[in-house]
This record gives sequence, structure tokens and C-alpha cells, in this order.
Amino acid sequence: MNMIYSNPFSLQGKHVLVTGASSGIGREVAVWLSSQGARITLVARDIPRLEETLLRLEGEGHTIAVVDFLNEQDVSGWMKRISKEVAPFDGLVHAAGVQAPMPIRATSLSHWEKIMSTNVTSSFSLIKAFRQKGVCLDGSSIVLFSSVMAKVGEPALMGYCASKGAVESMVRAAAIELAREGIRVNCVAPGVVKTEMTETLKDLVGGGSMEIIEQKHPLGFGVPADVAYAVNYLLSPAARWVTGTALVVDGGYLA
Ligand SMILES: NC(=O)c1ccc[n+]([C@@H]2O[C@H](COP(=O)([O-])OP(=O)(O)OC[C@H]3O[C@@H](n4cnc5c(N)ncnc54)[C@H](OP(=O)(O)O)[C@@H]3O)[C@@H](O)[C@H]2O)c1
Repeated sequence: MNMIYSNPFSLQGKHVLVTGASSGIGREVAVWLSSQGARITLVARDIPRLEETLLRLEGEGHTIAVVDFLNEQDVSGWMKRISKEVAPFDGLVHAAGVQAPMPIRATSLSHWEKIMSTNVTSSFSLIKAFRQKGVCLDGSSIVLFSSVMAKVGEPALMGYCASKGAVESMVRAAAIELAREGIRVNCVAPGVVKTEMTETLKDLVGGGSMEIIEQKHPLGFGVPADVAYAVNYLLSPAARWVTGTALVVDGGYLA
């Protein structure tokens, strides 16, 4: 088989579903992928902010789908409908997530379950929906969001760390099961990237603590585009032999 592409990183004409598209990394991923020729279905809860993202996309044929991963929703049903109304999917990027820092002594069961529903159960529902017959195309790619917090710990992040560890385990199991269906499954594991999520963390821990955290990143904090380029790679034919892995994009934090 000749696997030489004129541009193996091209996303021209691909239909990609991007969750978390109303903010931060998900928004930047959507904007970047559209600049590379992809048609995007934008997913989050906040309609005005999704519309802001939509205005920033290049090209045509983009769509908005409003979904709340905390309310039981028929993810399989709406994904099937969009794949029929717009086009079957080539990719799924699940950037929606919450960090919700909380010391263990103050963490209620409902707080814990909010983190797990948004970060973990949503990933299960999306993977299950995406692999339905006719919803995705052969050679498609799923990219979930882990974090360096899947591999190390910090105070007040037990729920977040557990959720990202679960995402990395899901990626391995799903990659093996779905390989025979022509679907690759990976995740990116970013260090601290400047977004609203990190603004919330800064409000909580204070500017001094954020400086200490930044010093742990030899290349400094990242920006959303640093992660969007990694997602581009995992979605593209350049990564056709890559599945079941976590791509660390962390400015050297884990090193
Ligand atoms: N920023 C970092 O330093 C960093 C580092 C490592 C990993 N990550 C991971 O990267 C991903 C994106 O993070 P970010 O920094 O871009 O976060 P962000 O700016 O806070 O954006 C989070 C996104 O998730 C969506 N979301 C949250 N709860 C939702 C729900 N119940 N249903 C549907 N959508 C929901 C939000 O949209 P609505 O509010 O409109 O619903 C928003 O678009 C997350 O998985 C995060 O854990 C981030």
C-alpha cells in the first residue's frame, strides 16, 4: 500500500465534532481545524459563546449542537442525527471538561460526581455514539483530553486527577477494541495552558502559587494553539499508525 501523502497533516474536507468549543482549548482547536479545511460541529452549553466561536471559523458548513453532559441526554441519538443532516464524522475531539479544585475534606459526593460525569462518563457516551454504524467513516480518529494530572498529583485535585487517569485507561481499552472498526483513539495530556480554567485556578490559589507552578514548566505556560496543533496531528493521516496513546504537550513539566 502506498502511504505517501502530499500533505499527511491535511484535514481538508473532514467533518470533526469538537466539544468544549465555547471556550479555551476547544475553541482554539475548532478555529485551527477550520483553518486547515475541516468542517466543524461545535458542542457546548453556552449558545452565545458557541456563536462567537462560529464567527471565528474559516470556511463553510459548520454547525452548532447544544449539549449538557450533566443532564442525561441521548448522545447516540443526536450524533446520529447530525451525521445524517451534515455528514458522517472523520473525527471527534472531546475538549469539554471541568477541573473543580476542592480539598478532600470539603469534597461532597455530588461534587465528585460532577467531575466524573463531565470528564469521564461523557467520554464513554461520545465514544459509544461515535462508533455507531454510519456515524463515522473508516479511518476516523477520536481525541480525548487527559492532563499531566493523570500522571502526577497536586493538592485539591484528587477528583480531577482520578478523572484524567480514567480517560487515559479508556483510551487504551477503546483503541484496542475499535481498531478492527477502523477507528483510532488517543488523548492529549497538556500541562498548564492559559484559559478560563487556569484563571479559575489562579483565583483560587493566588498569583504567587501560579508563579511557582509556571516555574515547573521549563518552557513556561502554554497557549491553546500549542494543543490545537497536537490535536491536528492525531486527527490527520500523519498519525494513521498511532492509537491508544497519550500525547504529552506540557512545556517540559513532566520532565
Ligand atoms: N487549561 C489547562 O491548563 C488544561 C491542562 C490540561 C488539560 N486540560 C483539559 O483540556 C480541556 C479543555 O480545558 P480548557 O482549559 O479549555 O477549559 P475551559 O476554558 O474551562 O473550557 C471548558 C469547556 O468545557 C465545556 N463544558 C464544561 N462543562 C460542560 C458540560 N456539562 N456539558 C457540556 N460542555 C461542558 C464548557 O462549555 P459550556 O460552559 O459552554 O458548556 C467549555 O467550552 C479540559 O478537558 C481540561 O481538563 C486543560
